[in-house]
Amino acid sequence: MFRLILCLAALTVALAYKNPHYASGRTTMVHLFEWKWDDIAAECERFLGPRGFGGVQVSPVNENLVLWSHQRPWWERYQPISYRLVTRSGNEQQFTNMVRRCNNVGVRIYVDAIINHMTGTWSTNTGTGGSTANFGQWHYPAVPYGRNDFNFPHCVITGNDYRCCADRVRNCELSNLKDLNQGTEYVRTQIVNFMNHLIRLGVAGFRIDAAKHMWPADLRVIYDRLHNLNTAHGFPAGARPYIYQEVIDLGNEAVSRNEYTPLAAVTEFRFGMELSRAFKGGNQLRWLFNWGTAWGLLASGDALTFIDNHDNQRGHGAGGDILTYKQPKQYRGAIAFMLAHPYGRPQLMSSFAFTNTEAGPPMDNSGNIISPSINSDTSCGNGWVCEHRWRQIFSMVAFRNRVGNTAVTNWWDNGSNQIAFCRGNQGFVAFNNDYWNLSQTLQTCLPAGNYCDIISGWKSGNNCTGKRITVGSDGRASITLGAGEYDMVLAIHTGTESRL
Ligand SMILES: *[C@@H]1O[C@H](CO)[C@@H](O)[C@H](O)[C@H]1NC(C)=O
Ligand SMILES: *[C@@H]1O[C@H](CO)[C@@H](O)[C@H](O)[C@H]1NC(C)=O
Ligand SMILES: *[C@@H]1O[C@H](CO)[C@@H](O)[C@H](O)[C@H]1NC(C)=O
Repeated sequence: MFRLILCLAALTVALAYKNPHYASGRTTMVHLFEWKWDDIAAECERFLGPRGFGGVQVSPVNENLVLWSHQRPWWERYQPISYRLVTRSGNEQQFTNMVRRCNNVGVRIYVDAIINHMTGTWSTNTGTGGSTANFGQWHYPAVPYGRNDFNFPHCVITGNDYRCCADRVRNCELSNLKDLNQGTEYVRTQIVNFMNHLIRLGVAGFRIDAAKHMWPADLRVIYDRLHNLNTAHGFPAGARPYIYQEVIDLGNEAVSRNEYTPLAAVTEFRFGMELSRAFKGGNQLRWLFNWGTAWGLLASGDALTFIDNHDNQRGHGAGGDILTYKQPKQYRGAIAFMLAHPYGRPQLMSSFAFTNTEAGPPMDNSGNIISPSINSDTSCGNGWVCEHRWRQIFSMVAFRNRVGNTAVTNWWDNGSNQIAFCRGNQGFVAFNNDYWNLSQTLQTCLPAGNYCDIISGWKSGNNCTGKRITVGSDGRASITLGAGEYDMVLAIHTGTESRL
């Protein structure tokens, strides 16, 4: 009995960190990669809040090393020099203002927390807020950290370590980044103070960067010292931060994602890999009929899911064969499947355009990030892709919000790459990734009526700008999706009925 109570207690604790605490009816977050805090605040108010987005993952908030003035690679933000809230995205006052404004419109903020390491050794040593470091002395006076706060003896992770040696993956340096020892009380305290400061400012949780490079037992101590979310920002009393840990585990790893799910949620990299493969034609869509744990994915509530993230969209991390904005039709298909299917907690990627995989965000001659401009058709300019503003993507966020936690029903496939399914008498979606047209009368499970397809258009007044689908009293509808169409998806849901 006592053992059972202990087990239940451990389970309750882990579950506590797996709730994103979205505002009611919201389901999806977007990573606004390298956006400035003022721009995110505006985006929450003008777009994300009204469109029903649940939250934003922001780029690292604490001061990072400035590598070079002429070139500012995106990864400089993964080289912390202090825990002061000052980066190219903005200062503490701007961050505080953003969190407040986003929470006010029901959009939560999640911080990419870099707690595994500090900087590498470079020829420059000044941060975005003017703090300095002495790399030879392992000295970061603005924290302060010194030699004893890092793992010793000094070693660097090699490719082979990922297969053989969990201790080296955790105790050696990732890409020569000075590796903090989270086993010491002093280091834990600095990290906890940093994260609790952000909780006080109203954030809803954290992405734990490089979690597989830290010992789970150390992370547990850190998580359990975090404060409850700030009720002054609309969180319920006693709410724990949502924590999703970056653990890249595509199999055959010395460090397993399963070592981290007892603590909190985990980034499920197999999700985007498998869906990218399928929507690129490397696997038939019909096999997605049992999408989820049957595919070796984590339990749904444990998984932060995404097609691409800022690392693998440029071939870093578990990169390689991931769909991105650069293959828009297949990408929109994979994203639509992610959002239409109940598995996981989805995160969208919102990118700046790049060809050079090292390049940082659009910047002016002084190194300041240039804000995205908003075009009259709601898309972005100034070098920003803004996938979250693609109609086919934000409309599927509304679809997911609408169908809630309902199960997949009425699965149909044609034995290859044409599939369709329903969600809880609220939504219906069809995909055609074949070279042949789809033209079928299918069971939609929706109430009789005329519905506007939210992929080819939208509901405008009493009419549809795109396809109009007529569902009969038997729930069936004639569905056509030409192989040559701009999109491979058709989606309808209740709430978008046309009167015509
Ligand atoms: C499914 O589609 C494929 C390709 O479009 C086609 O070759 C096949 O005949 C279809 N199968 C069925 C059962 O309709
Ligand atoms: C409704 O929209 C369709 C497709 O855009 C269009 O062809 C049709 O004329 C519209 N009907 C009315 C009454 O506006
Ligand atoms: C597929 O549909 C398109 C229109 O969407 C049509 O032009 C084409 O002829 C069709 N192809 C076949 C093989 O039926």
